[in-house]
Amino acid sequence: MDTPIFDFVRAYANSQTSRLHMPGHKGKSFVGCESLDITEIKGADSLFECDGIIKKSEQNASALFGSHTFYSTEGSSLCIRAMVYLAMLHAKECKKAPRILAARNVHKTFLSAAALLDVEVEWMFSEDNYLTSEITPDRLEREINKHHPFAVYLTSPDYLGNVADVESLSKVCKKYGVILLVDNAHGAYLKFLERSMHPTDLGADMCCDSAHKTLPALTGGAYLHVSYDAPRLFVEQAKNALSLFASTSPSYLILSSLDNLNPYLKSEYKVELCELLKKTARLKDALAEHGYTLLGDEGLKITIRTTDFGYFGYEFADILREDGFECEFSDKEHVVLMLTPQIDGECLKKLEASLLSIERKKRIIEAAPRFVTPKRKTSIREAALSISETLPAKECLGRTLALATVSCPPAVPILVCGEEIDENALSVIEYYGIDELCVIK
Ligand SMILES: Cc1ncc(COP(=O)(O)O)c(C=O)c1O
Repeated sequence: MDTPIFDFVRAYANSQTSRLHMPGHKGKSFVGCESLDITEIKGADSLFECDGIIKKSEQNASALFGSHTFYSTEGSSLCIRAMVYLAMLHAKECKKAPRILAARNVHKTFLSAAALLDVEVEWMFSEDNYLTSEITPDRLEREINKHHPFAVYLTSPDYLGNVADVESLSKVCKKYGVILLVDNAHGAYLKFLERSMHPTDLGADMCCDSAHKTLPALTGGAYLHVSYDAPRLFVEQAKNALSLFASTSPSYLILSSLDNLNPYLKSEYKVELCELLKKTARLKDALAEHGYTLLGDEGLKITIRTTDFGYFGYEFADILREDGFECEFSDKEHVVLMLTPQIDGECLKKLEASLLSIERKKRIIEAAPRFVTPKRKTSIREAALSISETLPAKECLGRTLALATVSCPPAVPILVCGEEIDENALSVIEYYGIDELCVIK
């Protein structure tokens, strides 16, 4: 498989051309990668109107993923906005109400899409944890019958490594003629399992993957995938949808990274992934035997409920940091470690030794307060576009949330724009250590 973008950029970097164009560094080294950082010069194509090297590279990615695949240099965040916009166009075309049924554990970008596009959202809450969703096909069917959405939106895998049963859920969506959108930001690699578990192979109409989260791509590299079976409109309008929300200066470093990934994904990646998954499974067995509670069913994540082992998640992360390991995520109850084939065997052995050397302590019983469905005061759009103020959380009782100002990771809001901050919500917010809230003034 060829690498037309990377080849072009490298050849240009090696040419002695004087750069009388942007970027201002002119290819001179400041951080070291500038020579490869170009703009839309002749021959470089243009991401949102492509008919040259970018189009060719996206065709390579499409062949690998078995879908219509479009590049994003602004992460899944851009793809999520584009997906929601495309779904909204479809609803308009079908004269359906602009209502999406979403599992509540959305990344905050979904809220910005809902605010910008004035989407009405009906939420499916989880009993268990604000980061997860346990949507069964029966429940989905009931919720569809109750709310009559034009689309269902799932986040899978979630931050803790739980994977939804997209195949069964997509059957329910198809039965009711409802579009299925999946935030697969954490699951690009699912395409390359022995049996693909990628959402577009399991019946989703569209999904986004952050290439940079689980594949060896530069930060910002992501894909919007449109299934071959999805309404034609999605493919026809995909570039317009992405360009509506995107910068007009996409990074060629990131495009080159996505491009350069294609031959690797086509050749050795699948075998390397399979080997890593076996090693990770063995490591997880050893950890379970040592007494750790492991959560999630995702092969590339190790999620430990550290409170069962006597540590708060952030304390546990500090211990690992002392040993030279930086976790993806920790909160009060968990640590999440993310692996890829780019972690070598030696590192895995050291990780195992480190985890097995941590002494078990008395279980921490403290648990998150049960979250009760909050009251909606205004629409997501109205709240997000209101004049707001940021106040200490404990002063916000009775106020209405304007923006879900949650940082990444995990960037999953507990309350969303337009919901009332009641005592229950405040206790959950306090439990997770959120000190300030952005409320409508
Ligand atoms: C579930 C989920 N969706 C979407 C995103 C946004 O992805 P990106 O950082 O590629 O824009 C994230 C980022 O962490 C995420 O965790």
